Amino acid sequence: MNDDKAKKKIVVITGVTRGLGRAMAEKFIALGHTVLGCGRSRQLIDELRQKYPKRHDFDVVDVTSDEEVQAWMARLHKKCGAPDLILNNAGIINPTGPLWKIAAKDFSDVIDVNIKGSANVIRNFLPNMIKKHHGLIVNFSSGWGRSADKDVAPYVATKWAIEGLTQALSMEIPAGLGVVALNPGIINTDMLQSCFGESAAHYPSATRWAERAVPFILKLDENDNGQALSVPDM
Ligand SMILES: NC(=O)c1ccc[n+]([C@@H]2O[C@H](COP(=O)([O-])OP(=O)(O)OC[C@H]3O[C@@H](n4cnc5c(N)ncnc54)[C@H](OP(=O)(O)O)[C@@H]3O)[C@@H](O)[C@H]2O)c1
Repeated sequence: MNDDKAKKKIVVITGVTRGLGRAMAEKFIALGHTVLGCGRSRQLIDELRQKYPKRHDFDVVDVTSDEEVQAWMARLHKKCGAPDLILNNAGIINPTGPLWKIAAKDFSDVIDVNIKGSANVIRNFLPNMIKKHHGLIVNFSSGWGRSADKDVAPYVATKWAIEGLTQALSMEIPAGLGVVALNPGIINTDMLQSCFGESAAHYPSATRWAERAVPFILKLDENDNGQALSVPDM
């Protein structure tokens, strides 16, 4: 492993309160990296603040608000400078059902978090990474960013969008930086339970998944720019 990959990283993670984001935060911290995380649930953010030393940072930020993301980035930049790694992980899924029965508000919410939320993070954090000529952005996609299924059309649409957004961005960013789309696999989280019901229990926990996902992410660099990747199976 070269020096750059071995060095301790500053890692921004959106959606750090539960599920994959929380499990990744815990694993990155256990490996000695610094985690700067956000989510909307104040109580869960407070728990993280109490649990981990102050060099990490957890804040209540709704990624659908460009203003909130901008203020969050400005505060973090003063504290830590530009991050080495951004995990655009925050996401929601629609209440399951055929597209014509999905309320307009539910459709908009999925677009707002999964697409516009990721774009808000990129818009605010990327310029300082460009100045530093360094950094990697991982946009969380899905198997449903490369295939489709019934009853999840809004979610499928957002994850296909993330794949396209990532490819376009990969052609725009300068040398030294990278952006990839990452399909995490199928993991037993609140999101999976909302669409798979009881059969979600047949899939690995987020904590178990993070044991292989975090080392995989840590091996990525600018040479992976533009790739559509998947966390390898156990
Ligand atoms: N689990 C799977 O099998 C699976 C498969 C493929 C892809 N994925 C993708 O992996 C990512 C994580 O999924 P997950 O299963 O861990 O979901 P999850 O358990 O439902 O957790 C989602 C996280 O996103 C946060 N979040 C949602 N809306 C937000 C907003 N507006 N602003 C900030 N944070 C927000 C939530 O925190 P708050 O509620 O506190 O805001 C929570 O921490 C998502 O992008 C998902 O699409 C998951």
